[in-house]
Order: sequence, then structure tokens, then C-alpha cells
Amino acid sequence: MFETLTLSVTERVATITINRPDKLNALNAATIAELDRAIEEVRTRDDVGGAILTGAGRAFVAGADISELSSQSPLQAKARSAYGQRVFDKYESSSKPVIAAVNGFALGGGCELAMACHIRIASDLAKFGQPEVKLGITPGYGGTQRLPRLVGRGRALQLLLTGELIDAQEALRIGLVNRVVAPADLLSSANDMMRQMLANAPLALALCIEAVDRGYNAPQHDGLNLEANHFAILSGTMDMAEGMTAFLEKRAPRFIGR
Ligand code: COA
Repeated sequence: MFETLTLSVTERVATITINRPDKLNALNAATIAELDRAIEEVRTRDDVGGAILTGAGRAFVAGADISELSSQSPLQAKARSAYGQRVFDKYESSSKPVIAAVNGFALGGGCELAMACHIRIASDLAKFGQPEVKLGITPGYGGTQRLPRLVGRGRALQLLLTGELIDAQEALRIGLVNRVVAPADLLSSANDMMRQMLANAPLALALCIEAVDRGYNAPQHDGLNLEANHFAILSGTMDMAEGMTAFLEKRAPRFIGR
């Protein structure tokens, strides 16, 4: 059971909804711990193929919970940052795809959480930003690292140093989000993309994610070697035989994840 979020599973898609709408889903310690448990559940449940992460009410996540941050010592701050980073890393390295469906404010830790997901789909009401400098701190959940990798160093530094908020269209323009849709279409759009992914071979999805994740920060020849190994491993799977047979027989494949 969860207290600060809900997790439901429909046809192999887990929907995790952060649920503190009165605090704009601000990430307190309890919510971070439950996000940790929720992604573990997604990773280990055989009846789950991927996850959609969203927020209840008018925010996705309006940042770390400032009422908790305001009284922390430097050592407590370091521990808070390191734990949150580990939790967000689990989303990024999940072998099952995770889509952030950004319904509203994605600020500070909210923008960082969305960036740790594999894909970001935004409602056109969403707003993004890293306003930590306005509070006298830096991002602590990966913002200084994932933002430049996603949008480039200059644009990242603009957002990080001004603390300005940008709307969904600007986020799309700079590559922070993959797609912008009307608010009413947000979850169906995320579900449609997830279903498109889950129609593919699960091991192929997992190894694509791992190659991108590991290869991104490695020298290119190491990444290419990893890719060649994945290509070799998959060529021994039943799903590869099924995928190619189905193509030649002009029918849809039936993948089993082996
Ligand atoms: N931490 C703790 N509480 C937060 C919060 C956060 N990051 N963001 C919003 N809340 C709370 C507010 O304190 C308020 O609670 P209250 O009703 O008990 O007073 C409630 O959520 C609603 O927020 P409010 O500020 O009244 O809504 P708004 O529409 O006027 O403004 C924001 C929305 C997002 C612009 C504003 O809440 C904001 O700037 N939040 C902080 C963003 C931030 O700096 N994040 C990075 C943190 S490191």
C-alpha cells in the first residue's frame, strides 16, 4: 500500500500517480521512498511491461518539499540528494519503458523526475523549470547533469541560472519533451505510445534502453561493443525467431520475452 501515490495496472501498463495535490505533489521524504518502492514493483512484476508516471491535480510535481528542505543540515542535504538520485536512476535504468505524462508544473525535482523517465509527454498546460537558485540551492536530483544532456549546455545553463519557467511549447522546441498534447488527451497519448512499445519484443526493449543508458556516458567504441553484444544475445532468443518468422508469414508477432 502507498500513501503519497497510487499504482494501478491495466493490460500490462502500470500508472503511478503522485497524489499530494494540496501540496502540488511536492516530493517529501515519504514520496521519494514510495517512488522507490513503486519502480521496484514495476521492475519486478511479471504482469507489468512498462509504466506511466503522472501527477494528481494541477501539478506533475512542483519540486522537492521546501518545508523539509528549509531545516536540513549540509550532511542531511547530501544524504537526501544521494538517495533521490539513486531512486531517479532506477527510473532511468528501468528495463521496462517509463513515460512521464506531465500534466502541470514540473519544477525542480519534478523536472528532474520527468527527465529521469525515458519519454516525456506534456499537456499544453505544463510548465517546466529548475528554480532552485531562487531558494539559494542547486538542483539535487540530477538536474545539472540530465538537463544539459537533453537540451544542450547553453539552454540548460539558461534555465538553471535564471530559474525561469517555460511552457510546454518551449519545452518541445528545446527538446525537453517529446510531444505536447491537449490536457484531455494526455493519458491516452501516453497509453498509445506505451502500447506501441509493448507490442515489441520485451528483451529488445530492455537491451535498447540499456545500450542507450550505458553507452551515453561511455566512449563510443565501448557503446558500440555493447550494442554488438546485445545484437548477438538477442539473435539467440525465441522472440527473434518469432519476430522474423511473423514478418515472413505476414502476420503479427506473438512475443513471450524469452
Ligand atoms: N514544497 C512544498 N510545498 C509546496 C511546493 C514545494 N515545492 N510547491 C507548492 N507547495 C504548496 C504551497 O506551499 C501551497 O501549500 P498551502 O496551500 O498549504 O500554502 C500549495 O502547494 C499550493 O501552492 P501555491 O504556491 O499556493 O500555488 P500557486 O498556484 O500560487 O503557485 C507554484 C504555484 C508552483 C508557482 C508555486 O507553488 C511555487 O513556486 N512552488 C515552488 C516551486 C519550487 O521552487 N520548486 C523547487 C523546489 S527545490
